[in-house]
Amino acid sequence: MDICVVKDYEEMSKKAADFIADMIVKKPDGVLGLATGSTPVGTYKNLVSMYEAGKLDFSRLTTVNLDEYKGLKRSHDQSYYFFMHDNLFDHVNLRPDASFLPDGSKDDAESECKAYERKVASLGYADLQLLGIGRNGHIGFNEPADDFAVATHCVNLTESTIDANKRFFASIDDVPKQAYTMGIGTIMKAKRILILASGADKAEAIKNSCFGPVTPKVPASILQFHPDVTVICDEAAYSLCK
Ligand code: F6R
Repeated sequence: MDICVVKDYEEMSKKAADFIADMIVKKPDGVLGLATGSTPVGTYKNLVSMYEAGKLDFSRLTTVNLDEYKGLKRSHDQSYYFFMHDNLFDHVNLRPDASFLPDGSKDDAESECKAYERKVASLGYADLQLLGIGRNGHIGFNEPADDFAVATHCVNLTESTIDANKRFFASIDDVPKQAYTMGIGTIMKAKRILILASGADKAEAIKNSCFGPVTPKVPASILQFHPDVTVICDEAAYSLCK
């Protein structure tokens, strides 16, 4: 693992965008794996600025997202589909048919998860997968568990994740309780992985994932076994590693 510690969220976002831009320039027809949540918002803003400045071309790129809430229509303003359009897709020249997310409005979990895994596999998996990290060490919606889930699957979100997400919904009862997510195996098949973390509430997760034992109780710890992982985190997120 390459660990790069930067001052703050702004610096993390700039560095992450440069890292992703480098991949797009080197492989313009590549597959970029994307994440949602607060962490990558600044990264997406920087990528949009680079596009607007004429420095980046998304026209040949394909994107695959990690996850989606089950039970939300794509038009719901808290769906990850909506988030990706709002933060990135609608502001750059990605082809409309070149971005893929699991479809949370599909009730048949088994069929939707199999279809999504097949889609990602047919693209040859991500050339670069961007990840955030949950306070409990989750990646995608792979929550702490007894085993590492291999392929795209339906998960019951933990209380801690539901609690962390409630800020985006009118009440905790409106927060979806399930999600479709790439499995740990799907994520590990990405050729390169870039994981971002900002803030003291991620410090425990970063310490356990980068330096603790590899265990499904800390899903991101599996990344220690991946041959090409870069962590970009700010000083607060790295504070327990010193
Ligand atoms: C989102 C995702 C999640 C988030 C994680 C951190 O697609 O896969 O694993 O990366 O929950 O969320 P934030 O960035 O909001 O702290």
